[in-house]
Amino acid sequence: MQEQIPHIPVLKNEVLELFKDISSGVIIDCTLGYAGHSSLLLEQNKNINLIGIDRDQSAIDFSLKRLKKFDGRFEIKKGRFSSVVNEILNQKQNVKGILADIGVSSLQLDKKERGFSFQSDILDMRMDKNTSLSAYDVVNFYDKEKLEYILKEYGELKNYKKIADFIIKNRPYGSAKELAEDLTKIMPKSKKIHPATLVFQAIRIEVNDELGELNRLLDTIENSKTNDTLVAIISFHSLEDRIVKKRFSKWAKKCICPPEAIKCECGANNSLGKILTKKPITATKKEMNKNPRSRSAKLRVFKIER
Ligand SMILES: C[S@@+](CC[C@H](N)C(=O)[O-])C[C@H]1O[C@@H](n2cnc3c(N)ncnc32)[C@H](O)[C@@H]1O
Repeated sequence: MQEQIPHIPVLKNEVLELFKDISSGVIIDCTLGYAGHSSLLLEQNKNINLIGIDRDQSAIDFSLKRLKKFDGRFEIKKGRFSSVVNEILNQKQNVKGILADIGVSSLQLDKKERGFSFQSDILDMRMDKNTSLSAYDVVNFYDKEKLEYILKEYGELKNYKKIADFIIKNRPYGSAKELAEDLTKIMPKSKKIHPATLVFQAIRIEVNDELGELNRLLDTIENSKTNDTLVAIISFHSLEDRIVKKRFSKWAKKCICPPEAIKCECGANNSLGKILTKKPITATKKEMNKNPRSRSAKLRVFKIER
């Protein structure tokens, strides 16, 4: 295939190592993107079938071409992973692996027309172009309370009140570029990241309901009947990692009696399986040098054995 591949899959060796013993059944790639992980898994695990999900049509179009040589072994579904995984788990009993490499792809971040980048001439940030809420709406129409909430909760910004005030006073903003430049006036300077990074992160999470999606995906897996299934989640910031860590701990718990109970009365057989990563797997120095995006990647893995 001649087209340049716009995204390098993170932690690819670690993901391959984890999934290598899955010898049959279905692997779901919840975040197909540019089929980086999917193509490697189809190559390595010769007898599995794969279902790839993405809500971005341009990622799907690219992946359809990239996966052509695996015709007959893969299916691609467009939609939000929380609802598509639910449909799949209701229909299939042989799902043996679920991978989610959440967040945005390099192409989404870098392509100016998508409105995610600091240089972008528009304010968009929608992964799925068919959804209605865009960054433009959040920045220009959210009231003070809602803006403060997302800056505090999704950007983890201490000076969220000041930033919300600043945005409200200076809007409307027509482009990400304008907003990013203006924010440098009030955001602390940093050698590592653009001053507007966390504000952009907050807006992007809101536009795409990223934390809601992750929570619903975990709910879906928890409430399904899937068994003997490896669940591997790669996240890129502490908000997501915390959600995954907390949920895996809950799943691993055998006893669900209230903490004040003197004696266990639940039977202590409530665990969904076991955590395979006490600490998250992170990228090696070599990978970080090659692909700076991998620096913040954290992979946590749970084996469902009901
Ligand atoms: C980090 S990229 C995945 C890259 C992929 N692993 C690869 O190697 O090419 C994340 C992808 O997941 C998609 N995505 C993020 N959240 C989603 C959701 N809730 N439902 C469906 N797709 C989602 C994005 O559109 C993006 O293409």
